[in-house]
Order: sequence, then C-alpha cells, then structure tokens
Amino acid sequence: MEPVPEIHRVWPGPGGTPLTDEGIAAAYPRLDRPHLRVNFVTSVDGAVALDGYSAGLSGEADKRVFKLLRGVCDALLVGAGTLRHEGYGPVRLDAARRAWRREQGLAEYPTLVVVSGRLDLTPDNPALAAAPVRPIVLTCGSSAAERRKALAEVADVQVYGETELDLTAALDHLRSVGLRQLLCEGGPHLFGALTSADLVDELCLTVSPLLAGPGAARITAGTPSPPRPLALAHVLAAGDVLLLRYLKIDKT
Ligand SMILES: NC(=O)c1ccc[n+]([C@@H]2O[C@H](COP(=O)([O-])OP(=O)(O)OC[C@H]3O[C@@H](n4cnc5c(N)ncnc54)[C@H](OP(=O)(O)O)[C@@H]3O)[C@@H](O)[C@H]2O)c1
Repeated sequence: MEPVPEIHRVWPGPGGTPLTDEGIAAAYPRLDRPHLRVNFVTSVDGAVALDGYSAGLSGEADKRVFKLLRGVCDALLVGAGTLRHEGYGPVRLDAARRAWRREQGLAEYPTLVVVSGRLDLTPDNPALAAAPVRPIVLTCGSSAAERRKALAEVADVQVYGETELDLTAALDHLRSVGLRQLLCEGGPHLFGALTSADLVDELCLTVSPLLAGPGAARITAGTPSPPRPLALAHVLAAGDVLLLRYLKIDKT
C-alpha cells in the first residue's frame, strides 16, 4: 500500500506542518447556507481524463480529498454519463466518518443524486441498487415513463422541466428536503449545465502534474455560459500535486 501522502497548506500560509484529516476537512467546511461544491481532477494542460478515465489523473492526495469531500456533504450529485462510464458503486464511508456525521446530526451517508435526461440506467446499477440511502434520480418530462417506473423500484425519480431538466428547480427541491450541502463529482456535461444555470458556488480542482497532450475533453462541456468569476480560497500541495479551492465571487 502506498504511504499516506503529506498535504501542506501553501496559501494562505503558513506551510510547514502537514495537515491532518481534520485539518484538511476544516479547509473544506460545511457552510451555513445552501452550497454546491464541484470537485474535479485535471492535468496541467486541462484534460478531464486519460484514456477516457479520471483514474489516470488522480493519485493518493486527490483520493484523500475526494473521500473527505464525500464525507462532509448531504448529497452527492453525479451525471448519468459519469455514473455509467466510471462504474460507480454504492457510496461507502468508513466507521470514523460515519460516527463524525452522526455527532454532527447528519445522516450517516450522503444521498446519491443522479442526473439523467434519457434515463439510460437500469435498477440493477450497483450505485443505485446497493445504495445505503435511497438515491434520487433527477430527470425531465421527456424521459420514458417505463424507465421512470423501473428506476422507481430503487430510487426516488423526480421530474423537473418538460424537454430539459430544470436544475434550478431540482436543486431548490433538494434543499427544501434538507440536502443543503451538495457535492457534484461531474462529469463535464453536468458541470457545464450547472455553470450555465449559475448554480456553482465552489470548485475544488486537483491539478495533476502531467501534460496529457491533445485529444482529451475539458472539465466542462455542453451549454454555453457567460464567464463566472471566482476567488481563490486556498492552495494545498501534496508534492507536485496542487489542490485548489475556488469560491463564487459573491459567496466569499
Ligand atoms: N476528471 C474528473 O474529475 C472527472 C469527473 C467526472 C467525469 N470525468 C470524465 O468525464 C467523462 C464523462 O463526461 P460526460 O460529460 O459524459 O459526463 P456527465 O456529465 O456525467 O454525463 C453526461 C450525461 O449525464 C446526464 N446529464 C448531465 N447533465 C444533464 C442535464 N443538465 N440534464 C439532463 N441530463 C444530464 C445525461 O445523461 P443521459 O444520457 O442519461 O440523459 C448526459 O448524457 C468520462 O470520461 C469521465 O471519466 C472526469
């Protein structure tokens, strides 16, 4: 097993002592307002995947933060493309994190929320069928009624919008049922749609020290959007890997 990577704070200082898990978690706080955090890993030249998968960009430091972010959210939002392609399994948290969540008055596990227009998903998908908390599937009115019915065996299927999913209404509903701290793990089309609807409050970006070269897509895709200014909240470093946290400008 690889040693646990030391993670240091670069900005704001001081650097020096490696952060503990608690120190890292404190750098990614739960906020006292509804909040959508997005987490991605990229190469220095902006690739979203290597050979089609994020795994080639990730490493121990990225995985450590990825796990911590899952541990502090109320719901985990993912596009159906990423769920299908990356072979998502059910969300798992270790006993210490579950105990921490109980102490904070949170549900033991975050709720998985899958975003899909076509509902090209089956109820035996392990992320849905073996989920520790009944998942939610967000879709729009143009999805097939029989697919909605099939998925309703294992998930709450919710419809927002007729031909296009109304993400603003969907997220409002999640918040109204107590799912206020949302973590989106991608992928690019979902991130693009959330950016376009101006729903992104935070971007956590791991920059992996390599050049992927031409060919790969970016971390965002799909719907055009005006530029959304961000403020840098911190820079953590684990060797050559940077862990950046940016906040929407009016949320700082
Ligand atoms: N580097 C990273 O951190 C990272 C993270 C995640 C993914 N990835 C990579 O990204 C690639 C997948 O990209 P992707 O853009 O296909 O991922 P995606 O955004 O997860 O999936 C796109 C699919 O999700 C559903 N979807 C997303 N936004 C929607 C919206 N606004 N309304 C309705 N449905 C929506 C649709 O599903 P239906 O087709 O069912 O309608 C759509 O076809 C893979 O290579 C994966 O490895 C990388």
